[in-house]
Amino acid sequence: MEQIKFINTLMNLFKNIFSNKSSNPIDLSVLGTDMHSHLIPGIDDGAQTIEESIELIRELNQLGYKKLIITPHVQGEFFISTPEIILIGLEEVRAALKNEEIQIKIDAAAEYLIDDKFEEKLKSGNLLTFNENYILIELSFFSPHPNLLSYIFDLQIAGYKVILAHPERYSYWFDNFKKFEDLKNRGVFFQINIISLGGYYPFPVKKIAEKLIDNNMIEFLGTDMHNQNYMQGLKQALNEKYLDKILSSGKLLNYQL
Ligand SMILES: [Fe+2]
Repeated sequence: MEQIKFINTLMNLFKNIFSNKSSNPIDLSVLGTDMHSHLIPGIDDGAQTIEESIELIRELNQLGYKKLIITPHVQGEFFISTPEIILIGLEEVRAALKNEEIQIKIDAAAEYLIDDKFEEKLKSGNLLTFNENYILIELSFFSPHPNLLSYIFDLQIAGYKVILAHPERYSYWFDNFKKFEDLKNRGVFFQINIISLGGYYPFPVKKIAEKLIDNNMIEFLGTDMHNQNYMQGLKQALNEKYLDKILSSGKLLNYQL
């Protein structure tokens, strides 16, 4: 009997050493600020009602976040929010949070898709940014825009700091890791989605996210919060050892925002 108990203890020990899970869920207050979410109701594919927004923000607050920078999609003809539309929505969310007495700072920017319509936005100079001129961009999931590198260059020359949203999700680069290295060499900041670490997306998104962490290529973590499915995905990721690893890397800049 004692022998069986000993073997079980030994097996559990090995399981913990070799598993990718940590025993306690990670408290996100060490991160402080989330800089990627879709929580202004009704203007993109994120929260659709103010009630839904408030519930998701309440839960993010309970997970430890002290500040959220909400980033609605701005894409071609699908999501055409102007900075004015986004900022009006932000005020609506702020008023509802005050009403509910939820203590969290919120701000807004945008998640700009690099598409054919991006050039005119860039030329207008009417782009929403956060902190010291950070701009969050995303790429098509089918293929990168042919002018991607020149847009990045133009943004940087104009004084923007470019953050690429969820690089781990662009499958056309999965077999070409050099593409990620090239963007890093061009001074692009990378933000991975926390839910990628928990296996929310199809394989091998998690593996690519882990490889980017192993190569010290990540400066920001985001929730990319859209709805309750994402919230469940986020909670599932809180036991991942790679989340622990990136949080203790000393490289993350979320807390500065
Ligand atoms: Fe997003």
